Amino acid sequence: MKSIAIIGAQWGDEGKGKVTDQLAGQADLVIRYQGGNNAGHTIIVDTKKIVLHLIPSGILNPKCVSVIGHGVVFDPTAFMKELAEVKAHVNVSPENLKISLNCAVITSYHKVIDAAREGQSSVKIGTTGRGIGPAYEDKVARRGIKLKDLLDKEVLIQKLKHQVQEKLHLFDSLYKVSYPSIEEEATTLHKLGKEIEPYLCDTMSLIEKAHQQSKNLLYEGAQGILLDIDYGTYPYVTSSSTAAGGIFTGAGCPGGKVDEIIGVCKAYTTRVGEGPFPTELFDSTGELIQKKGNEFGATTGRKRRCGWLDLPLLKYAVKASYLTSLCITKLDILSGIGDLKICYAYEYEGKEIDCAYPGIDLSKVKPLYKTLKAFDDAFETSNVSEYLNLYISEIEKAVKIPVGIIAYGPERKQIYFRRKYYN
Ligand code: GDP
Ligand code: IMO
Ligand code: MG
Repeated sequence: MKSIAIIGAQWGDEGKGKVTDQLAGQADLVIRYQGGNNAGHTIIVDTKKIVLHLIPSGILNPKCVSVIGHGVVFDPTAFMKELAEVKAHVNVSPENLKISLNCAVITSYHKVIDAAREGQSSVKIGTTGRGIGPAYEDKVARRGIKLKDLLDKEVLIQKLKHQVQEKLHLFDSLYKVSYPSIEEEATTLHKLGKEIEPYLCDTMSLIEKAHQQSKNLLYEGAQGILLDIDYGTYPYVTSSSTAAGGIFTGAGCPGGKVDEIIGVCKAYTTRVGEGPFPTELFDSTGELIQKKGNEFGATTGRKRRCGWLDLPLLKYAVKASYLTSLCITKLDILSGIGDLKICYAYEYEGKEIDCAYPGIDLSKVKPLYKTLKAFDDAFETSNVSEYLNLYISEIEKAVKIPVGIIAYGPERKQIYFRRKYYN
């Protein structure tokens, strides 16, 4: 019996889906606990590419049950589309997919607001446009609609009226955008609710029971620690708790602790959307990494910004999410590109600092680099070259936790476990 969490240690897209899919082979439950379909988790099976947004990355594993916890914001329309896509590859039924009755629902109004703000406000976050922020706002403002509310049309209409009361002024007077009527929205959501009903249950009790039965739990984070609403690069963040704290509020953590928290980290850094990025590359090396790494967002298709590995941010991520080990992905992309740089510290307000902290103004730091020898591994055996070993030990020395997993390609088998996770 063990509980493990997979958490993005950067700005998302670190390869969480691939690692979750691997560990799911030994897990009984794979649990999403925050975010929504802003996530895009890619798994390559043979020649098939499967991108999961809402459905946990355990779904490709026939023996494990995938769970969407109550902390996830849930778009019923997007879910039905994804369900159909995933069903084309694997069996998905109410037996192996369980969704919390208590997830907050993303309505059309949330998507309208997200788009209007990104289009018209002076501060652009570069959101995925999936209505995530506005849905969390309503949840916190205590006018959210829960999945269980979709099952009773009268209740739904009342709750929708409450939810849109203030928004109508924004739509009509401020943003001047069109939106569906409450009756239309209620009809759509009620119908979707009925289709989703067989999957709904009390996931908290399910997780607790699994724990009592000594099952292995695997929590799958979405986004990354630097996008966390509290620990991230605010305001250029997402609206949920992406660090380990989100597990406690968004799913439940029987026993009061997670045994292992694995931070997934690319061998370099990427970011989609707006916001500061100290080690961002604007030269041909940045372009090379972007092209070789095929760095395009799995949800929106946007080009990902690319840069060198940033140890002050990684050290910070370890602290913010109590990471116990790291998985370094995409080492194959750095292989053969020449000498590598790694940011070991920043110059900030006249001082040298080697760890970021909450509220630091990352747009004002100057990254300080160390140059490391190029490695040229083909990754055909588990033996790695001296220079690749040096790259990994440079990371371990800085963060003071071990690198337990390395990944060197998008395919399932292109991963190497340096230690055992489940016994
Ligand atoms: P997630 O959001 O953290 O699950 O990551 P994404 O799926 O958005 O992005 C990671 C991308 O890198 C996907 O296209 C994966 O197939 C791919 N990938 C994962 N690990 C590796 C790796 O070690 N090497 C290479 N070349 N690609 C990888
Ligand atoms: P996965 O799980 C990378 C980013 C958006 C934007 C900011 C806020 O695949 O790692 P939102 O739509 O959440 O309000 O957008 O967060 N973002 C992600 N970036 N990977 C993700 O998920 C992301 N989910 C949101 O680009 O900058
Ligand atoms: Mg992604």
